[in-house]
Amino acid sequence: MKLSTKDINFFKENGYLIKRGILDEVLMAQARERFWDYTPERFSKHKPSSWVGPIRPEEEEEKTGTEPNESRGFRLHYRTIGSESWMVCLLAKDPVVWSMAEQMLGVGQLNEPKGIRGIYSTLPCGKHLPPQITCHTDAHPFHLGVVGYIDDVAPGGGGFTVWPGSHKRFYYAFTSQYCNEPTEEHSIIREYYNDQQPVDCYGGAGDIVLWHHRLAHTGPPNTTRRIRRAVLYEFTKKDIEQTQLEPPQKDMWRDWSPEFDQV
Ligand SMILES: [Fe+2]
Repeated sequence: MKLSTKDINFFKENGYLIKRGILDEVLMAQARERFWDYTPERFSKHKPSSWVGPIRPEEEEEKTGTEPNESRGFRLHYRTIGSESWMVCLLAKDPVVWSMAEQMLGVGQLNEPKGIRGIYSTLPCGKHLPPQITCHTDAHPFHLGVVGYIDDVAPGGGGFTVWPGSHKRFYYAFTSQYCNEPTEEHSIIREYYNDQQPVDCYGGAGDIVLWHHRLAHTGPPNTTRRIRRAVLYEFTKKDIEQTQLEPPQKDMWRDWSPEFDQV
């Protein structure tokens, strides 16, 4: 499956693109099953009322140098599973996902994934009042993000949420192309987008969201009864060490594939 000219145009204009029904059914089922290895004991797989957040203080797990997993508030980030090879096949090296990323960034140009981020989940907020959402841009250098749902995510269910078009402004709000050196403009632009309506990229199991590295986004509260379960990865090109400190380019798509740049 290739991205169409329409898809590429949509991505360039909006900074994200949703593609439906991409991920492998068997691997998704395996990920959904393994997810329960990381949940607190009181969570019962067949009892949705047991999944409501927040995580209790005694169940919290803090990320440390040796412990990458994290449970706090309404989030459970099961990161250790992300280094298992089948998880890489589920998302980054899924043949369709990989070919789309290569179409966007250039065939043979991508770094081989050693792992993915893992399963990132957002617990239902139940009777808790969902907080106001604000946007952010990510701090680590990469080119293209991908979020994949391993379970259905209904509207308001904590789906990846984006501010369309914000990548075109945030790209120029850093002194470098890929590192985290925001200019003074960054906070002004952020304030502007916090007043704009974002797009909730909800979807079904197997759907993916491709997103530009400078796109404003957030993981919003989950107001449904189902746990939001997603797998995450960020693609980088082999030349990122050389290009990351270069200033933002007049042509912000210079580092993307010639096909993509020219559309
Ligand atoms: Fe983020």
